[in-house]
Amino acid sequence: MVPTFNESANVGELLGRLRAVLGETGWEVVFVDDDSPDATAALVRSIARTDNRVRCVQRVGRRGLSSACIEGMLASAAPNVAVMDADLQHDEAILPAMLELLRSGSADLVVGTRYAKGGSTGDWDPQREGLSRFATRLARRLVKQDVSDPMSGYFMLRREVLDSTVRRLSAVGFKILLDILASAPPTLRVAEVPFTFRSRFAGDSKLDELVIWEYGMLLADKTIGRYVPVRFLAFAAVGGLGVFVHMAVLAALLKGLGLDFGPAQLAATFVAMAFNFAVNNILTYRDSRLSGWAWWRGLASFMLACSVGALANVGIATYLFESRTTWFLAALAGVLVGAVWNYAVTQLYTWGRKARAA
Ligand code: GDD
Ligand code: MN
Repeated sequence: MVPTFNESANVGELLGRLRAVLGETGWEVVFVDDDSPDATAALVRSIARTDNRVRCVQRVGRRGLSSACIEGMLASAAPNVAVMDADLQHDEAILPAMLELLRSGSADLVVGTRYAKGGSTGDWDPQREGLSRFATRLARRLVKQDVSDPMSGYFMLRREVLDSTVRRLSAVGFKILLDILASAPPTLRVAEVPFTFRSRFAGDSKLDELVIWEYGMLLADKTIGRYVPVRFLAFAAVGGLGVFVHMAVLAALLKGLGLDFGPAQLAATFVAMAFNFAVNNILTYRDSRLSGWAWWRGLASFMLACSVGALANVGIATYLFESRTTWFLAALAGVLVGAVWNYAVTQLYTWGRKARAA
């Protein structure tokens, strides 16, 4: 399975090399494309018309490398499945060796590794190299099996490994192998095949600074995710930031412009809501990010939902305060109920399936 986003310049070359190394029978390749603007999906389908080993799953209104990989693997019936990038950074020449390790029964999962003897990261700059090694150290705490490169995007597994872990996968971010390893039992037999990470054939990397944030979300989900949804934590953290924005705007309007408290508080509330919406759209809901018209519609539904949340907050806090709860606990309860309401409702209506289908 090959995840793609704007990879039309690489698809043809990759297929040529797969055909050369895998021979004529016994394989298929599933591309999972997140509606790339460069029409990668249309290109894959046009090839698929004359080669039925090639298939395309096109996802609309969604992004995410890990979830693409999971859906691509699930779309195939093959007993052994490999995940590899479309940009030819992953050396296809080791695919037969990986498959042999699964077929001979000596491993359940095979990682194409950059760190074991014989592998290398190729021509990476020292900063990326350092960051990657640091992230790898963090990952090793989660992974119970002995793996030198749990951050690799290149691996092959038996279908049963997927069957037994798929319901526990976090599916956030781009570290799908780490996700699988952390969800699998320590007894999973992992083998490694070294390769040299090549430079990209064409196009640009899709991973930006925010992958660090996504990586944090994955680690958080794998450690505390069973107690509290990490999205809620992210949503609450953004809300906390929003309080500062609110106070700053309020102060500016009161002291700077000399507005009355009522209108100033109202304006500050709107600015803070818009801030919360915009930041959540980038961080918390990166995988279903809204843009264009959907962004404005999302903003409107977010503000509506949060206004109701604010009413619930004030209502509950007032009720508790009047029934002799201390002001602090009454306020805290109001804030909590408001936050959970906002989270639950905007998840569904602002970023949820309904918004996407509309
Ligand atoms: N469907 C889909 N959706 N595919 C995506 C998305 C997405 O949101 N983002 C990236 N891809 C595809 C790209 O088109 C490419 O085929 C592959 O995923 C890897 O993306 P790159 O942008 O080339 O990532 P990279 O080269 O910086 O990172 C690679 O190496 C890392 C190791 O350092 C990836 O393999 C990472 O998974 C890996 O950890
Ligand atoms: Mn790449």
